[in-house]
Amino acid sequence: MADHLYPVPASWAAKSRMNAAERAADHALSLAAPGRYWLDRAARLDWFRFPTRADESSFDEADFQVKWFADGALNVSVNCIDRHLAGHGDDVAILWEPDDPAEAPRRFTYAQLHAEVCRLANVLKAQGVRKGHRVTIYLPMIPEAAFALLACARIGAIHSVVFGGFSPDALAGRIQDCDSSVVVTADHGRRGGKLVPLKANVDEALRQCTSVEAVVVVRATGGAVEMVPGRDVWLDEAVRHVAADCPAEPMNAEDPLFILYTSGSTGKPKGVVHTSGGYLLWASLTHELCFDYRRGEVFWCSADIGWVTGHSYIVYGPLANGATTLIYEGVPNWPDASRMWEVVDRHGVHTLFTAPTALRALMREGDDYVTGTSRKSLRLLGTVGEPINPEAWRWYHEVVGEGRCPIVDTWWQTETGAAMIAPLPGATALKPGSATLPMPGVAPELVDAEGRPVEGAGEGNLCITRSWPGQMRTVWNDHARFFQTYFSTYKGKYFTGDGCRRDEDGYYWITGRVDDVINVSGHRMGTAEVESALVLHAKVAEAAVVGFPHDIKGQGIYAYVTLNAGEEASEDLRKELRDWVRTEIGPIATPDAIQFAPGLPKTRSGKIMRRILRKIAEGDVSPLGDTSTLADPAVVEHLVDNRIIAE
Ligand code: WTA
Repeated sequence: MADHLYPVPASWAAKSRMNAAERAADHALSLAAPGRYWLDRAARLDWFRFPTRADESSFDEADFQVKWFADGALNVSVNCIDRHLAGHGDDVAILWEPDDPAEAPRRFTYAQLHAEVCRLANVLKAQGVRKGHRVTIYLPMIPEAAFALLACARIGAIHSVVFGGFSPDALAGRIQDCDSSVVVTADHGRRGGKLVPLKANVDEALRQCTSVEAVVVVRATGGAVEMVPGRDVWLDEAVRHVAADCPAEPMNAEDPLFILYTSGSTGKPKGVVHTSGGYLLWASLTHELCFDYRRGEVFWCSADIGWVTGHSYIVYGPLANGATTLIYEGVPNWPDASRMWEVVDRHGVHTLFTAPTALRALMREGDDYVTGTSRKSLRLLGTVGEPINPEAWRWYHEVVGEGRCPIVDTWWQTETGAAMIAPLPGATALKPGSATLPMPGVAPELVDAEGRPVEGAGEGNLCITRSWPGQMRTVWNDHARFFQTYFSTYKGKYFTGDGCRRDEDGYYWITGRVDDVINVSGHRMGTAEVESALVLHAKVAEAAVVGFPHDIKGQGIYAYVTLNAGEEASEDLRKELRDWVRTEIGPIATPDAIQFAPGLPKTRSGKIMRRILRKIAEGDVSPLGDTSTLADPAVVEHLVDNRIIAE
């Protein structure tokens, strides 16, 4: 059933940019003549100095580097704003839908966007921000979030967006790692009718950060906040003292555009670095191809700007293409489960790009919330962030899209910048649950545990064997970790951390992470991060965290906790630990289940046997596999007998 083929609808085939054969030929050309192919594609951007070189990357340790268009110079904000002004200055660049549906939406034309971005850029400059400085952005989903990214890009500052759901501690860690000199935040954020105290969180975070000299505060709700004299400025006051124009800084293609922290299987979150030329080209090209974007259409990516999906498909890809991009402040199910479809109707959305977890949650509420709305503007539906189960795929296709909208399931990662494996709506027949085929220049390879390539149909670990323009360039401040994390497992290849199957038609089916990263509601979470948060609690001796299948979230967080001698396990303590993790990291890291355990299963050399913990959390306890290497097999029996049934 899952392999059922959905052919390209005739209406799409008739007007698409490429058909299936052309897609295949284009992909082959991109691999056979990459230099020419990518210099041709580079012409979609406006350059101060057009590059003469494309890919100069090498994945080998001896001459390891990721480098594209190195002699080119451009400015990302010019590409996203200024170049549209002459012919399209009055086109709507940003549509903003507020959290509360009773409030009026806002809209900004490209000409208005230009003015907003220039003023904010000048405010940053007035706070001492210069090319190469880091600016941390901790904002709700308001238009100023997009302005802030573009303002940094305009003056060559490197932005680091921190998701508004992260705690003060998590924010502080991310500010310290990249030494930001300025933070841009808002008084409060609003999500689903609730206030998030962003400015107060910043104040708390800054007690631990010495690098920050100024905080620029957007008056979003008008709620009361404390302002520290000499450090904090209101944006609406500061813009009155600056010029309405701000010249764009010429940037080398390889100059960093942003840092975005993401979880890995070990240690602290990594600062993924993306650069100006390759990243923008990749975001813009994939936005056009995957969504067959045409000027005038309304494009809605419902991710938060705090994640890579928001960077690439709310801001950079769409605006580089002169699109109308919708920013929604709220959540999918507030005031009720029809909100997303009401937003679609209110703004005439053509393309909706969202996460399977949102679809599963809405699907559970029943079809009436959907069928009570029109949705006639929709022509294309996209998903990203986690594998989509065929049931949710079909609901999206049949109920939401009434069978007329192709589903574009895009597989990619923070590290890849933008979509890597995805259907093109006019070219690719669909199979529910498969991200289908590689984008131009993308060379996927499946390898077995020994690193041997799997040919033809089969399953393995997903690697990419050559660089592509949107690939991350380094881990901020830790180039050795970049190599170590992604290129040392399989020599000469970028290892994604995902497992994958390739079928007889060459279609790719992502099976999920094969490392210690879990995917909770489409958000990446390192199990090590949750473990470190738990062991910081005074009563906790040891913790091990694994993922388990969750109907709505995709994966849930299951924590095994060993208490210090003399501490009593209790319901209260369980709640205390959940709250503890929320404050240490943020609500998205809250464990769904906490099992108190007298001990954890370890090998005789002291290594925790996660395979066993995963099985117990999954409820799959019959054959636990080889437990002969366990130091103390009785520990496992206790764990099995006291398993928590998580909601
Ligand atoms: C998973 C989000 C299956 C995958 C853009 C990857 C997916 C991780 C898909 C990256 C998809 C993303 N199908 N799995 N269409 N898209 N993933 O960095 O495990 O937040 O490695 O980037 O999400 O998550 P990240």
